Amino acid sequence: MRIPLTVLLAAVLSTYASVAPSADVDTNSDAPVHLGLFVSIVAKSSTVENVTQFLATAIPLVEEEPQTIQWYAVQYTNFSTPTFAIFDTFRSEEGRVAHLNGQVASALFDNANALLDGAPDIKPAHIVASKVTSQPDTGNATAGLTVGLTIPLTAKPGQVNATREILVGVLPGVEQEALTLDWYALEYPDTNSFAIIVFFASEEGLDAHLTGQVAADLFASAASLLTAVPDVVEFDVVAVDIK
Ligand SMILES: *[C@@H]1O[C@H](CO)[C@@H](O)[C@H](O)[C@H]1NC(C)=O
Ligand SMILES: *[C@@H]1O[C@H](CO)[C@@H](O)[C@H](O)[C@H]1NC(C)=O
Ligand SMILES: *[C@@H]1O[C@H](CO)[C@@H](O)[C@H](O)[C@H]1NC(C)=O
Ligand SMILES: *[C@@H]1O[C@H](CO)[C@@H](O)[C@H](O)[C@H]1NC(C)=O
Repeated sequence: MRIPLTVLLAAVLSTYASVAPSADVDTNSDAPVHLGLFVSIVAKSSTVENVTQFLATAIPLVEEEPQTIQWYAVQYTNFSTPTFAIFDTFRSEEGRVAHLNGQVASALFDNANALLDGAPDIKPAHIVASKVTSQPDTGNATAGLTVGLTIPLTAKPGQVNATREILVGVLPGVEQEALTLDWYALEYPDTNSFAIIVFFASEEGLDAHLTGQVAADLFASAASLLTAVPDVVEFDVVAVDIK
């Protein structure tokens, strides 16, 4: 049985409404960008172009959302099903709820039955560390980013804190990687799950990152901290909006 998307969206929104902390004030533009949403969507085999088009045309709508700070749409490569992901960031729970109530989310849900193979998988994330160097650039639909990686990580029981500490600990190394443009370490609250999502201007940057010290350090700690050696998923960047 398929859960109607409107029911799903209502459930997601009511979850957020009940946890929205009053201490978060979006009008404070100095507040750290510490919250995110990671949404994976699977196109039907016949609608890959339509989904790509949908994501590209979402940029002007995202641009209208003052509380959506960074917004990235990507398409996984070498994947057996045509899978896309949207990752976006916020300074407050209020901003995240506004995005879920906004025009992009509503357009996605309105088109979901026609375009997608199943409901979008929406995961709220906490950004535990990040490096963001890409700049607002309305002249380029991907802000100069072309490829990237997402790396889901599952901590062993009892190793959640240590995994978070490693992710924070590699940030200085990431900052030294000139070709690693945007890098986020995410934690999915109340789970053992983390993820890294990272963006480059070129394949050269991606290769340098995968063969660099940060990747070596993370893989070296995988055996003690993680349930399995992580899968590295490559993607092409489809559309980006940076505020
Ligand atoms: C996908 O795009 C094609 C070409 O623009 C169009 O003919 C088709 O109706 C679209 N499909 C859906 C489900 O929107
Ligand atoms: C992914 O696909 C591309 C293009 O088809 C190919 O060049 C590349 O070797 C593939 N990579 C992997 C890891 O399979
Ligand atoms: C955006 O920048 C990327 C990387 O520099 C480039 O490959 C792409 O062609 C540019 N796109 C446009 C529309 O200018
Ligand atoms: C993990 O860290 C939290 C807060 O930083 C702390 O309250 C908790 O006791 C730690 N858990 C373990 C297993 O060390």
